[in-house]
Amino acid sequence: MEFQTNRSITKENPYRICFVCLGNICRSPTAEGIFQHKVKERGLGSYFYVDSAGTGAYHVGEKANATSRSVAESHGVPLLSRARQFDSDDFNEFDLILAMDASNYSNILTQKSGTTTAQVEMMRRFDPQGTSEDVPDPYYGGLNGFEDVFSILERSSEELLNQLTPHILTE
Ligand code: 4NP
Repeated sequence: MEFQTNRSITKENPYRICFVCLGNICRSPTAEGIFQHKVKERGLGSYFYVDSAGTGAYHVGEKANATSRSVAESHGVPLLSRARQFDSDDFNEFDLILAMDASNYSNILTQKSGTTTAQVEMMRRFDPQGTSEDVPDPYYGGLNGFEDVFSILERSSEELLNQLTPHILTE
């Protein structure tokens, strides 16, 4: 499904994306790292501000999970974030809030109060191979789970960036 954003993206007004999962140590830091890597590769770093957060507070302050980091690094993507908890201010800080699964999505919406500009969407809305599904939580699974998550987030991020690129206004 084609994504609609209602504004142009400029260096003065970068497009702000927050990827959100439960712990902010596996899925959303991986999405943040992949998307950041892609915008840098395309020379678009100054047009985007990318962050991630977790709906839960269990891992606040921690680096990304060691397996998430080693899988991402094996694909050339460093994961540098520290976990933080999503909060209601994020609705005013970001243009787009992307939930990794349906539970994250409903937890995000419970924090919403008043009028906000942020759009909240499911990450896999952008997955060319499975647009109505969750990004599965790899935390209790084996290495294959982490590799699967990386692949899902790689192709979803690619499509997301492809859909946002026409909104970029270059001087
Ligand atoms: P994430 O994975 O939401 O992809 O970061 C999880 C990490 C930790 C926990 C749950 C999910 N936990 O319950 O500690």
